[in-house]
Amino acid sequence: MIEVEDLFKVFGSKTAVKGISFTVKDGEIYGLLGPNGSGKSTTLRILAGIIPPTRGKVLVEGVNVAENPLEVKRITGYIPETPLLYESLTPMEFFSFVGSIREVPRAELEERVSRLVKAFGIEEYLGELIGTLSFGTQQKVSIIAGLLHDPKALILDEAINGLDPKSARIMKELLNRFKEEGKSIVFSTHILAVAEALCDRVGIIYNGEIIAEGTPEQLKEFVHEESLEDVFLKLTESQEEVSSLVRALREAF
Ligand SMILES: Nc1ncnc2c1ncn2[C@@H]1O[C@H](COP(=O)(O)OP(=O)(O)O)[C@@H](O)[C@H]1O
Ligand SMILES: [Mg+2]
Repeated sequence: MIEVEDLFKVFGSKTAVKGISFTVKDGEIYGLLGPNGSGKSTTLRILAGIIPPTRGKVLVEGVNVAENPLEVKRITGYIPETPLLYESLTPMEFFSFVGSIREVPRAELEERVSRLVKAFGIEEYLGELIGTLSFGTQQKVSIIAGLLHDPKALILDEAINGLDPKSARIMKELLNRFKEEGKSIVFSTHILAVAEALCDRVGIIYNGEIIAEGTPEQLKEFVHEESLEDVFLKLTESQEEVSSLVRALREAF
């Protein structure tokens, strides 16, 4: 379970996150959906123990991120927006490196690497230098690396967007399996179809605040539109329209 309560993050004169609260239950996929600059990556970096919150409480599986970021890193799988890789290592070397940092027993590591590498179809690149691989393949390496320690909670920042359709399907299957195992999963996206297809619940984040939250169906019902896409499009329209929708959503939820 992931619990976020009244979370703030200030960078100098910029307040990127303004009092966000949400909960991700065990076995739940929660989507943070919002346009660029709305505070998704900042929120997820705090959840993963990468940067500290300015204020507010974040518990991942009961562990407080401000007090024990290292433990949070141990129990979460964080897949960043931009793959963070060592260009001069091969994927295989990188997986061994990550496995040793995360203290994954050798046999388990080998079993997971072989299963995930096969699922994503990147066997042929295991011995190439990461720096020479395509962005898509690097993204797959980054995803696999984030899953090697079998984390209890998963935090994915726009991790599905750049994948080819086949890999996106594999990713969806993986997420559904993790869900069945009772892991809590939170991911960000600015793509509605992704949120609609995958999430049990969605929080619409705009300008550092969650302005509406519910199942994709609930959000659709409220606006009487065919698709969540229409809700989202409204949010990215003119400032005036955004303000009135924000007000209406706030009153309704
Ligand atoms: N390290 C930082 N220093 C200053 N401003 C930042 C920093 N990180 C993010 N921001 C700002 O915070 C806001 C939210 O950014 P971000 O969380 O990356 O949004 P999103 O992931 O939704 O696109 C943006 O205005 C961004 O410029
Ligand atoms: Mg982002």
